[in-house]
Amino acid sequence: MTDTKKTVHGAWSSRFAFILAATGSAVGLGNIWKFPYITGENGGGAFVIVYLLCVLLIGIPIMIAETMLGRRSQKNPIEAMEVLTDEAGADHNWHYLGWMGVIAGLLILSYYSVIAGWASAYILKAFTGSFLDADALTIKKIFDDFVASPIQLIFWHSLFMLATMLIVVRGVNNGLEKAAQYLMPSLFVLIFALVGYAMTTDSYFQGLHFLFMPDFSKLTSNSVLTAMGHAFFTLSLGMGAIMVYGSYLSKNISIAKTAFLIAGADTIVALLAGIAIFPIVFANNLHPNSGPGLIFETLPIAFGSMTGGWLMGILFFVMLAVAALTSAISLIEPAVAWLVENKDFTREKACVWSGLVTWALGLGTVFSFNIWSNVKFFDRSIFQLLDYLTANLMLPIGGFCIAVFSGWIMKKHHSEQELNMPNETSYQIWKLLISYVAPGSVFLVFLHVIGVL
Ligand code: PHE
Repeated sequence: MTDTKKTVHGAWSSRFAFILAATGSAVGLGNIWKFPYITGENGGGAFVIVYLLCVLLIGIPIMIAETMLGRRSQKNPIEAMEVLTDEAGADHNWHYLGWMGVIAGLLILSYYSVIAGWASAYILKAFTGSFLDADALTIKKIFDDFVASPIQLIFWHSLFMLATMLIVVRGVNNGLEKAAQYLMPSLFVLIFALVGYAMTTDSYFQGLHFLFMPDFSKLTSNSVLTAMGHAFFTLSLGMGAIMVYGSYLSKNISIAKTAFLIAGADTIVALLAGIAIFPIVFANNLHPNSGPGLIFETLPIAFGSMTGGWLMGILFFVMLAVAALTSAISLIEPAVAWLVENKDFTREKACVWSGLVTWALGLGTVFSFNIWSNVKFFDRSIFQLLDYLTANLMLPIGGFCIAVFSGWIMKKHHSEQELNMPNETSYQIWKLLISYVAPGSVFLVFLHVIGVL
């Protein structure tokens, strides 16, 4: 870690702090809100298997690569790619990769913040007892009425963006670390409690069956793309978040071990969320494919009927909002780091500008759930379009480039030195995955979607 770096951002105080912050980035709405609803929309078990394979064969190798590129360069993604291409003696066009990441981060945050706003609003609803003894129909009506109101969505979206910017402005040590340190472990505990509730419903095994019994006939090429895109999304890969966090990581830490820990924790949270949610879906005759409202239409039923549900409901939505917050700060950090390091912005000014742009973009998502719900591009609402563009296209393309760069462009002795694996075999396995398997699979899935394969 160079001294200048320390003065600009600070550095992680320990390996544990990095793991917490990177897990904070990975674990978020992607695990608890998105994973269940896209699993529901894509038919369950078979989709889950493809997603797990993608995490293992594409996600983890790329997470290792992305952390490595960040730490080696000690720079924000745009500059990182410049430094690294110089070191490898390669073409400078690689820095567009950094650009795409910064843009993808802002685009994702624009809709992420709207959904995180829903979670925040649900804290209040839980607190005022809206869910007590409510049946599935009432809970659905609460959700439908809520998203039909642009004013309410804008209010909560603004509040969430403000909270994000207040944390980001304080920088690595004071803001990011502290936020992650206390709140991530509590989330684990609460999800376990929800799984406990799901076990008491008659539909527990039906839920497990849906989640884990593959029916490959339900898999389309688009669901394979969605599963792969989600592996990137949920692990925060392909847009530079993990690269930035890696740039704050000190040199003596094993990147590979850390990546396994983070990906493992992330996957467990997603699976537990699925195990908690689907039994409630079936027990109440709801449909697994009811879209982005799924957790908001199911979990409150549990909170309304279980003992201690009032408090659990409040705590759950607090945790969800906080999990979203620790991801949101990593979505905007590449843009902020770049403005500070390259454009001589103060951290405050960088936060205000990137925050305002993201907030304004988020209005598109807000309106796509109400007054613009009929506005469609390629058959998708603005929210769906942003989600498809970022999670299914930009992140996999970003990840593909990271893989190609790390496997083919970067000098072998540089990656070997930076990763410092315990033995040659582990390095060789990673090298094989990053050079062939990861980029090859992304490429094949794309070919399949456009109908060439
Ligand atoms: N991984 C986060 C989640 O699952 C979202 C995210 C994507 C964060 C990309 C940073 C970068 O909620």
